Amino acid sequence: TPADLQSILTFTVKLARKAGELILEGSNAIQSASSESGVGEKKNSVDLVTEFDIKVEELVKKELKSQYPSFEFIGEESYAAGSCPPLTDKPTFCVDPIDGTTNFIHGFPFVCISLGLIYKRRPILGVIYNPFLDHLYTGITGQGSYLSSRLNTEPVRLPLSKPAKPLPSLGQALIAVEWGSDRSKTTINAKANSFSRLAGDPAQGLSEGKMAHSLRSVGSAALNFAMVAQGGLDLYWEIGCWPWDVCAGIVIAEEAGGIVSGSHATFATSSKEKGFGVVTEEILTGRKYIVVRAIGDTQGEK
Ligand code: IPD
Repeated sequence: TPADLQSILTFTVKLARKAGELILEGSNAIQSASSESGVGEKKNSVDLVTEFDIKVEELVKKELKSQYPSFEFIGEESYAAGSCPPLTDKPTFCVDPIDGTTNFIHGFPFVCISLGLIYKRRPILGVIYNPFLDHLYTGITGQGSYLSSRLNTEPVRLPLSKPAKPLPSLGQALIAVEWGSDRSKTTINAKANSFSRLAGDPAQGLSEGKMAHSLRSVGSAALNFAMVAQGGLDLYWEIGCWPWDVCAGIVIAEEAGGIVSGSHATFATSSKEKGFGVVTEEILTGRKYIVVRAIGDTQGEK
């Protein structure tokens, strides 16, 4: 019920703030260490993990399990360690303990915990907290999404600019794209091709000789969603996100009036057909774009 969701939100916001303290502690430890101690590699040398990704996930998993014992849990680091329950209709928390791990290691302060809840295979609640900037984004399906920060201690409804103004064209958009950690030729070529069509010379770019105002790489999928919800970005496009990157962001962006495309399909089909969160061929062709906010006439600009 809406009241249940509010109570889960209260609990998960407290937990996200607690996780945020641990993230800040971890950042101090990593930034003051002379070497990259505690930094490990997953599938390649740019797919990074730290001891703090694991510590934060352990903390969050333990507290969620004790408060909501019947809920399932899917987390980035548990998945990496080989533990991932199949996606069912049961309430399932879906958590990225540190989204923006590369930023975290480098001291680039766009790092967050992304904590989502899925029910009947649909994301229905999201909490994204960046402890470096003290930006807290929350959303519940049907109940709006909000930002609280040092500047706005009372939650402010998203998007911040009201009403959300539709852009007449992608040619006036500020667009987030990401490099991701899959640097294989197929993926990077597909991405680079899309980047250049969006921002390159009008002759090879968008329709009617336009090019996007610019591209940004925030380095955290969840914060890209949050920034689209807030109105600072008009669009976020990425190939191959994982469920924990997008779960909370989907709710927050949609509740702010955004349109999310692609990732829903990943949610619905991946556990049955390809293994949960696996990058599908469709994603690799570069046809997936993820969040759009308030774009008006996009005809011919996809
Ligand atoms: C990654 C970041 C990155 C995005 C990748 C994500 P991580 O998550 O969100 O910006 O490009 O797709 O997997 O590894 O920092 O948790």
